[in-house]
Amino acid sequence: MLTVIGIPGSLRAGSYNRALLRAAVEVAPDDMQLQIADIRDIPLYDGDVEAAGIPSAVNVLKDAIAAADGILLATPEYNNSVPGVLKNALDWVSRPPADQARVLRDKPIALAGASMGGFGTVLAQHAWLPIIRALGLRPWTGGRLLVSRAQNLFDEDGRLRDAKTREGLERFLAGFGQFIAK
Ligand code: FNR
Repeated sequence: MLTVIGIPGSLRAGSYNRALLRAAVEVAPDDMQLQIADIRDIPLYDGDVEAAGIPSAVNVLKDAIAAADGILLATPEYNNSVPGVLKNALDWVSRPPADQARVLRDKPIALAGASMGGFGTVLAQHAWLPIIRALGLRPWTGGRLLVSRAQNLFDEDGRLRDAKTREGLERFLAGFGQFIAK
């Protein structure tokens, strides 16, 4: 069984990106178990806080990533780039540097994202690439999941109702699973 940790880059209850991960849990291949992380309790990065000890919410996320076979980021796009809350969470995950090999090195990662605009987070996904490189992760580039105009695809309960997007998500996860298993 492959285990994947899905990390949503939004804190709001009605987040389309978290809703996308909930749909991913439903359509994941039979040999993939997807767990959704929560970054709400991760504080803003502060070197003084780090010097006093890595916060427990950070250690929980680090251990969940270390234990997973792969990472799926569901990223919003803010001002044509990455959302600060998700960048902040991954900055914490990269600390201390001596722990990076255990948690991050060569870990397969896939990027997906939902936005209300027409470009489906393409610029945010592009902006993640140098960060992924800096973290020593292994990005999967065999597929793309750009969910545009998300407000038209999810119902009021946050369920992905659009059949085409569900199929695209299913294909995306199957491709990522094959990449991880290689
Ligand atoms: C946005 N949004 C947005 N959308 C987009 O397609 N391109 C962009 O550059 C931006 N920029 C942006 C900046 C800021 C500060 C906010 C708050 C929002 C809209 C964004 O796609 C929308 O709020 C999504 O719903 C965010 O994802 P969640 O919270 O639904 O997961």
